[in-house]
Amino acid sequence: MAKVLIVDDDISLLEILRMRFQSCGFTPHAAQSAGEALAMLKSDVFDAAVFDMRLGSETGLELLREAHAIDSGLPVIFLTAYGTINDAVEAMKQGAYSYLTKPFDHRELIEKVADAVERCSHSRRILRVNDDDSPVAVTIIGCSEKTRRVRERIAAAGQSDANVFIYGESGTGKELAARMLHAVSPRHKAPFVAMNSAAIPESLMESELFGHEKGAFTGADRRKRGFFEQAQGGTVFMDEISEMPLAMQTKLLRVLENREVSPLGSEKVLKLDIRVVSASNKNLLEKIENKEFRADLFYRIHVVRIELPPLRDRREDIPLLCAHFLNKYTHRYGRDGKVISGDAMDRMMSYDWPGNVRELENVIECAVVMSPADVIKAESIKFAQNQDSFAQVYREAKRQFEEVFLRQLMERTKGNISKASKLSDIYRADLYDLLKKHSIDPADFR
Ligand SMILES: Nc1ncnc2c1ncn2[C@@H]1O[C@H](COP(=O)(O)OP(=O)(O)OP(=O)(O)O)[C@@H](O)[C@H]1O
Ligand SMILES: [Mg+2]
Repeated sequence: MAKVLIVDDDISLLEILRMRFQSCGFTPHAAQSAGEALAMLKSDVFDAAVFDMRLGSETGLELLREAHAIDSGLPVIFLTAYGTINDAVEAMKQGAYSYLTKPFDHRELIEKVADAVERCSHSRRILRVNDDDSPVAVTIIGCSEKTRRVRERIAAAGQSDANVFIYGESGTGKELAARMLHAVSPRHKAPFVAMNSAAIPESLMESELFGHEKGAFTGADRRKRGFFEQAQGGTVFMDEISEMPLAMQTKLLRVLENREVSPLGSEKVLKLDIRVVSASNKNLLEKIENKEFRADLFYRIHVVRIELPPLRDRREDIPLLCAHFLNKYTHRYGRDGKVISGDAMDRMMSYDWPGNVRELENVIECAVVMSPADVIKAESIKFAQNQDSFAQVYREAKRQFEEVFLRQLMERTKGNISKASKLSDIYRADLYDLLKKHSIDPADFR
């Protein structure tokens, strides 16, 4: 049930509103003053709020500013007195969701609140997840100020239809951001179609993007819907847009400007209703200077820019991301209960992560698989770019495997070497050597 905060210094009106909301299936919380409202906002999350413009000594606008400092996405509906339209305009400018002038129809207020709850709930649910085992698959995890700002920009851009350009080094989460943008947008029920400009050969790109009719060219034995058509009503994600050949850029620009597409070999014109999100890990301005990217296309796709900072510039995110990936992989591999030691965490905090979040995810997955003990120690943290030679990595992996294997073998056979030798197909003498190498005493298992 949606939680609504109602703030009014007129006690009788407050009580009437509370009862109305309750009877319409909301969970209303009433506050008589700005101070009381702020205390509630600090300890609870609301789906929407209704503020009276005049609140004793404070104005509703002041409360709006303070409330948004606590919860920037809270939709607020203002009640203003008849004839104070300037207040209402000012409130909208400062980020209010909507307003009603008194006297107002209660049904209209309930409708406005329901509308706000519905429109904002999707993005707010994602913003609010506590980064642990969130049910929302598409979640950008991180507690740093930088990541928080990215989430806010995504939530804000999600509400509009503007084309979004996502910039970030490899592995910073560009695709994840694009998916989240789609998930929080009003288009979330329509398809999200991703294409990678670097992965499609130039000769096929036009038909992949725009589709083709049967017989449009040799080999076109059936009609094909292009990416744009498949994404109708939803979002097209154009990854590595910097890799798009110049001739194709010209065609793409025409499609985006006219908002219509004609499949190859077809007279038909399809009106497009899509939002374009593109991403790149290259500096497009440099490409424009080198005449490798069209400036006009750049401005067309680059209405809102979301920049994903490299992980080394937001190290505060590392522990939460580790916890998230640890959870994911211990679950996947049935290794529940594993934890990361303090010195392992120290190593990860001081590393530069050239492969960003993707590299961190790989490191944790590898540590979960390879680490024999319940505590993941610093030596189980293997970076892609350290001096460990492959031979060393192999030796260490083998050592770890042997130890786990031997311990399990001893457990199964209760330390009986003859049985263990038979079960494992290892000569007794070799088995003794191995046990000695790993300082495992069969007597401990008897
Ligand atoms: N903030 C985050 N929270 C949770 N998972 C993340 C986060 N950032 C990235 N990931 C995960 O890291 C991996 C890499 O992310 P993604 O594929 O979105 O990066 P990318 O920027 O598109 O990389 P590339 O440039 O190499 O294509 C994915 O598995 C993604 O789910
Ligand atoms: Mg990607």
